[in-house]
Amino acid sequence: MFKLSIALASLVTLAVAQVAEWGQCGGIGYAGSTVCAAGTTCTEINAYYSQCLPGQASAPPPPSTPTVSQPSGPSSTGTAPPGLASIPASTLTQFSNFGTNPNNVAMYVYKPKTVQSNPALIVASHYCQGSAQDYYEGSTFAQLAETYGYIVIFPSSPWSGTCWDVSSTETLTHNGGSDSLSIANAARFAISNWGVDANRVFAVGTSSGAMMTSVLAGAYPDVFKAGIVDSGVAFGCFAEPNEAEDSWNAQCAEGQLILTGQQWQQKIATAYPGYTGSYPRMQVWHGTIDTTLYPQNFYEEIKQWTTVFGYPSTPISNVSESYLPSGYSNSTFGPNFQAILAQNVGHTVPLFEQQYLEFLGIA
Ligand SMILES: *[C@@H]1O[C@H](CO)[C@@H](O)[C@H](O)[C@H]1NC(C)=O
Ligand SMILES: *[C@@H]1O[C@H](CO)[C@@H](O)[C@H](O)[C@H]1NC(C)=O
Repeated sequence: MFKLSIALASLVTLAVAQVAEWGQCGGIGYAGSTVCAAGTTCTEINAYYSQCLPGQASAPPPPSTPTVSQPSGPSSTGTAPPGLASIPASTLTQFSNFGTNPNNVAMYVYKPKTVQSNPALIVASHYCQGSAQDYYEGSTFAQLAETYGYIVIFPSSPWSGTCWDVSSTETLTHNGGSDSLSIANAARFAISNWGVDANRVFAVGTSSGAMMTSVLAGAYPDVFKAGIVDSGVAFGCFAEPNEAEDSWNAQCAEGQLILTGQQWQQKIATAYPGYTGSYPRMQVWHGTIDTTLYPQNFYEEIKQWTTVFGYPSTPISNVSESYLPSGYSNSTFGPNFQAILAQNVGHTVPLFEQQYLEFLGIA
């Protein structure tokens, strides 16, 4: 009997789930495991959030200070404390201390007046030379949140040209660092602290933000359940492993990087080795006269995602839609992948937010 209880006790010890690197290991309201994986230490980021950081116990990282100038105007109201109730409604609000943020990406949240219980989350990433404020003002994601009760996070790039880092090995690797890690951590924070439904975390973006959306879909398929790529490129197409972060890849942009579906799929597999879960549902949009990210990138995206999903390389249906301008064709390859090509549209295809919400299952 005595021996048995010892055996049971050690079994119980062994059974305590270890939290992986970057995972949450503590904080107010947190009920999960507080045991960090070997080589990482549970570090308090704030009262609501402790995270397993690489290395031994050390001081928490300094609070993030955005290196971009902050959007001005009455709608920006400083740093929000964690907890959904303390976020002011219907105004774009910066928040920080959401986890590791290597490049100090500035993070903003829009909470509608009435939030659904277990709300969906949309992470909306801006184009080059844009900001969180610009994308907030230039889209209807926030207004539609008032109708549908979801939460929006608008990240703001820290780089001088304010494109996103979609080229470094860090950003293209699961938990590898750079901008994609910051955005993934903000989404994880929203799940842990704001009651966001982990099964309804979505990424959308335009141009550089579309490329970031592909990066998030490929490197953080465990966090993001669907993505809308407006005028972007395939995951890994901008890779410049030997250049500084946030490099421009002219070969990719000009549609010269032409690979097989297998090769494109391999880039995604390499981003998160060992991952066996599902990949986000994807909807990609591109214009036929785009001279910033050439339309060949549309066909490279199709090769990539049809291979990931095991779909045929030609669409099951390719039709015009009554709500879209003439010249737009909607190709469906399977339930998880649609590609919309816009004849005579350049960079970028205008936003069709209501349609995105339908694809995301929100509207
Ligand atoms: C869908 O049809 C249009 C012409 O109507 C064509 O230009 C486009 O390439 C087709 N899309 C795909 C993915 O084959
Ligand atoms: C494309 O077609 C599919 C299949 O008919 C449909 O479910 C989807 O809503 C359409 N997508 C867009 C963007 O219109």
